Amino acid sequence: MPVNFTLNGRGVSVEATPMARLLDVLREDLRCTGPKEGCGEGECGACTVLVDGRAVNSCLIPVIQVEGATILTVEGLATDGRLHPVQEAFVRCGAAQCGICTPGFLVTARALLDENPHPSREEAREALAGNLCRCTGYQKIIDAVCEAIVPVGTAGC
Ligand code: FES
Ligand code: FES
Repeated sequence: MPVNFTLNGRGVSVEATPMARLLDVLREDLRCTGPKEGCGEGECGACTVLVDGRAVNSCLIPVIQVEGATILTVEGLATDGRLHPVQEAFVRCGAAQCGICTPGFLVTARALLDENPHPSREEAREALAGNLCRCTGYQKIIDAVCEAIVPVGTAGC
């Protein structure tokens, strides 16, 4: 059956079985490969996308649940050819190594900053607790989110 939703600002209609995982529909049917499969069980956050502004694990969501929804993946973070501030901060801080976890962290950080533009360091840690990284030790990731909050060179969160 066709499922219709908005993906990164563009209306899409995709033929899929209702219980197909949103992650598979995004990656395989729509070639939107930013969301990654890590655990496939809702534990790692590599597959995180925003559904109507809320960070969700796309490996756990049947595609039928996003009928009519607005979905943002890492591919939709940049606007007018400019990276989102949190993407720029990830680059500056060296917050990505292998990069598998990075799209999930970036969209989760975007949801956090949309909801709370000035989170404390602790709030940033808490918001990102569902995203796992095997490479960075998290310090640089949290540094990057804090850098995205305030201009470089001033006290961050
Ligand atoms: S792949 Fe979805 S949470 Fe790990
Ligand atoms: S950068 Fe490799 S898992 Fe996070």
